[in-house]
Amino acid sequence: MMSKITVEIIRGMKARGERIAALTAYDYPMAKLLDEAGIPMILVGDSLGMVVLGYTDTTHVTMAEMEHHVRAAARAEPGALLGADMPFNSDKTVEDALANAKRLAAAGAEFVKLEGGREILPQIRAIISAAIPVCGHLGMLPQSVLVEGGYHVKGKTESERHRLIEDANLLSGAGVFAIVLELVTPPVAKEISETISIPTIGIGSGDDCDGQILVTPDLIGTFPWFRPRFVRPLADCAVDIKRAVADWKKDVEKERKFAR
Ligand code: KIV
Repeated sequence: MMSKITVEIIRGMKARGERIAALTAYDYPMAKLLDEAGIPMILVGDSLGMVVLGYTDTTHVTMAEMEHHVRAAARAEPGALLGADMPFNSDKTVEDALANAKRLAAAGAEFVKLEGGREILPQIRAIISAAIPVCGHLGMLPQSVLVEGGYHVKGKTESERHRLIEDANLLSGAGVFAIVLELVTPPVAKEISETISIPTIGIGSGDDCDGQILVTPDLIGTFPWFRPRFVRPLADCAVDIKRAVADWKKDVEKERKFAR
């Protein structure tokens, strides 16, 4: 049996030169499958709003929905480190952030992830002070899609590059154990990864992060209606599901005809 993965183990992977492969799960079976496949870090991402709940973006996901899915994933009792996203507006004030991080931890999250940099440092410090580990998230912030008018690559200008590096240092200084870098230009993601001592976990940010994370349905093709350009799917489950269902339907219809 694999030993339980802790935040310290994930943090230490960078120092040991081990790359971190992280994926999302939103329920019991997927958390169990990812764990059995040896994935060390599983995130109940608020991407669940889009790939499971059918919302147009992640800003509609509620705390109650996150708790429900974290509980389901936690029932898998993964050896992997299991974390959860703080949903939109759940970390607006320090008080809210702390109370909501505690709710997710009570549901089974072993860490929480917050989107943003310097502007949420008080929230991050308060959560870490309550002994709940925090993963940062910089670059393109999906919860800002409405104010930004889309999903834009970050780090293209010198001021964006400078701000990202500063924010990464501030988050690291505040005690986050890792930082997700989403849609950051690969050279800037590389520079951040070389600058800070904690792991960077990239998504659409090139190969030079310390690890990679994907939204699992993008990797296995269970959400075929939208797939980010940077993802190379390794399975096409939607096709398999539709084929199996159509074959079974044909069998059922045949059996009915013979029974009459
Ligand atoms: O919500 C999510 O799944 C995420 C990943 C993109 C890292 O935050």
